[in-house]
Amino acid sequence: MAFELADIRFFQDNAADIRQASQRLEGTRAKALAEAEFLRERFGEHGRAVGELADARRRALRAAKFADTWLSDVDAVQQATPAPVARARARHLAGMGVDFVHDVTCSVGTEAPALQAAGIGYLGSDLDRPRVAMAQHNVPGVPFVVADALAPVSARGVVVADPARRAGGQRITKPEQLLPTLPDLLAAYPGRPMAVKCAPGLDYSEWAGPVVVASVDGAVKEACLYTPDLQQRSAPDGQPVRAAWLLRGGADSRDGDETISSADFAADELPAAGEVGRYIVDPDGAVVRAGLVKHYAARHGLRQLDEKIAYLTGETIPPGRSGFPFIEQVSLKRLSSCLKSLDAGSLEILVRGVNIDPDQLRKKLKLRGSRPLAVVVTRLGRGAVALVCEPRQWN
Ligand SMILES: C[S@@+](CC[C@H](N)C(=O)[O-])C[C@H]1O[C@@H](n2cnc3c(N)ncnc32)[C@H](O)[C@@H]1O
Repeated sequence: MAFELADIRFFQDNAADIRQASQRLEGTRAKALAEAEFLRERFGEHGRAVGELADARRRALRAAKFADTWLSDVDAVQQATPAPVARARARHLAGMGVDFVHDVTCSVGTEAPALQAAGIGYLGSDLDRPRVAMAQHNVPGVPFVVADALAPVSARGVVVADPARRAGGQRITKPEQLLPTLPDLLAAYPGRPMAVKCAPGLDYSEWAGPVVVASVDGAVKEACLYTPDLQQRSAPDGQPVRAAWLLRGGADSRDGDETISSADFAADELPAAGEVGRYIVDPDGAVVRAGLVKHYAARHGLRQLDEKIAYLTGETIPPGRSGFPFIEQVSLKRLSSCLKSLDAGSLEILVRGVNIDPDQLRKKLKLRGSRPLAVVVTRLGRGAVALVCEPRQWN
């Protein structure tokens, strides 16, 4: 549910009471009715809103989005930028000498703390009044105003926009389906450097500036389109830079974070596909979405199994990542007998480039052995193959 301004005031005036009552809530489906009744009795007409706030805080904590003292509704938590991504963007902008950001779709203020910590001046605005009120509560001392992103209220600095990404429950795939749309945003800030966050599935192939795809602990979170004036280095092929940020969740640490960029290698430094090596590596989704599989392979001494497939192979697993020790390659027809001869029990199945449903394949194989194994089903050249492996290992 969306909050009214009166709900926000109620939260602020009754913070201690709400915290105490929230500690008694389980938030499970089984307890939903009883807990709604408890909240209604304790908080009257605001009981439902307090339940929503408690739910939002639980989700924010689980997803490490922001502190559980923040005010937020559930939708705002779902839309919120994960903290590691906000911090990485803030460092990236600070590294380019950016000293001021206008966050034109600021919601409950999620990006403000990271930008402040990076020493960047900040103005947040949003069309949604209750969200602006929540942002003012969440990040005190920072200016947040109600404003339409398409009617600029700032005159300098980088414009960061995170348009709403869903329409009627559907994933948005075109820039003109964002809310506000990308063309409208660009037209509203002519000549201003901009960073526009989009769903990672958006087709940005025509975008003339750098694009960064970010993942946290292997899960792809967003693609961010930067205007060409925010490009730090040029790629050797003269094309706009594409980069992948592979970020770690958890505490404010950069340990294990990695950036892969199209600016790092020239075309003749990228490895050709080759024979299966000691390990098979499934690269992070951000690398795949950013079109940087070969660059990632070059960085880590790997090669593709096939020029058209995003599985890699080599003699080591990249530090902090996982891979599968290769045992043998068989045809799909021989997979069942091979796994039985290896006494396979549990099986991790990876599929790419072949129209096979892993769950159906697992059922069909009817494995009854005791050994955990993995299988990578993919296309090499024209044919589908199964690469039987030891279970996933971490380096
Ligand atoms: C995806 S959310 C932003 C999330 C935010 N960046 C964060 O990390 O929490 C999109 C926001 O855009 C706001 N919005 C939609 N249309 C707008 C407009 N024309 N002007 C300003 N804000 C708008 C919505 O109210 C919503 O808060």
